[in-house]
Amino acid sequence: MAQDYEQFIANIKKKTGIDLSLYKEAQMKRRLTSLYEKRGYRSFQDYFIAISQDRKLLEEFLDRMTINVSEFYRNGKRWEVLEKKLLPKILERNSRPKIWSAACSTGEEPYTLAMIMSKFMPLSQVQILATDLDENVIARAKVGLYPERSLNEVPDDMKRKYFTKDGSFFKIADEIKRTVTFKKQNLLADPFGGPYDLIVCRNVLIYFTEDAKDILYKKFSAALRPDGIFFVGSTEQIFNPGLYDFETEDTFFYRKK
Ligand SMILES: C[S@@+](CC[C@H](N)C(=O)[O-])C[C@H]1O[C@@H](n2cnc3c(N)ncnc32)[C@H](O)[C@@H]1O
Repeated sequence: MAQDYEQFIANIKKKTGIDLSLYKEAQMKRRLTSLYEKRGYRSFQDYFIAISQDRKLLEEFLDRMTINVSEFYRNGKRWEVLEKKLLPKILERNSRPKIWSAACSTGEEPYTLAMIMSKFMPLSQVQILATDLDENVIARAKVGLYPERSLNEVPDDMKRKYFTKDGSFFKIADEIKRTVTFKKQNLLADPFGGPYDLIVCRNVLIYFTEDAKDILYKKFSAALRPDGIFFVGSTEQIFNPGLYDFETEDTFFYRKK
């Protein structure tokens, strides 16, 4: 059984470049086992053969391994800290900050950043890079249609200004969309650009092993300017920020030394 999964990891890496060994094993194995059983396969080996022959199954696998839940202004209080306390300082240092939303899923996070930036400068001057491993979520982010529940935390004035109702969905305004450039990127394999003034990487690090996180913190740190800010998810505090040249700036925010 353990060998079956190890072989699957090796096969998937060869086929897609995705290294499942860097994701927490018990959790990932459980998710994928329930998926292949649902589809009637009895082992990872059988499942891999099927995936190799059927594009739809491969897409379903990718969809299951990447957990895509997101929402606008997720953990609203943290965004308030970003807006009130941290962005003014970032903008003092650089009036056209370089911003990256890493593992952006269906776009709620980079679009939240754009709405907040609109309070400081014209949207035509805002530039945000947003990346994710999963091409399907990027395609959905570009469409920009959201169910009402993902807007629960959006402040009323922003909702009025930047969303229009479209059937049972809400459509994000084109002027917000235009601020974001989406790109496919595997955080565990592809190079990081930079230097950035602000990197937002939330609710993906929890899926990675400690070794993978260690590598990523180093890469994020190297991709930030001195005094640049790294914003993580609300269960993802870094236990030893000093190891990565980070100083805690506020809860879930780290400043590059
Ligand atoms: C739970 S969502 C987080 C979305 C958003 N950051 C938020 O906090 O609401 C996790 C995202 O991480 C992406 N992801 C998983 N592994 C990745 C990797 N190796 N490189 C880049 N993105 C990855 C998934 O495709 C998914 O869209």
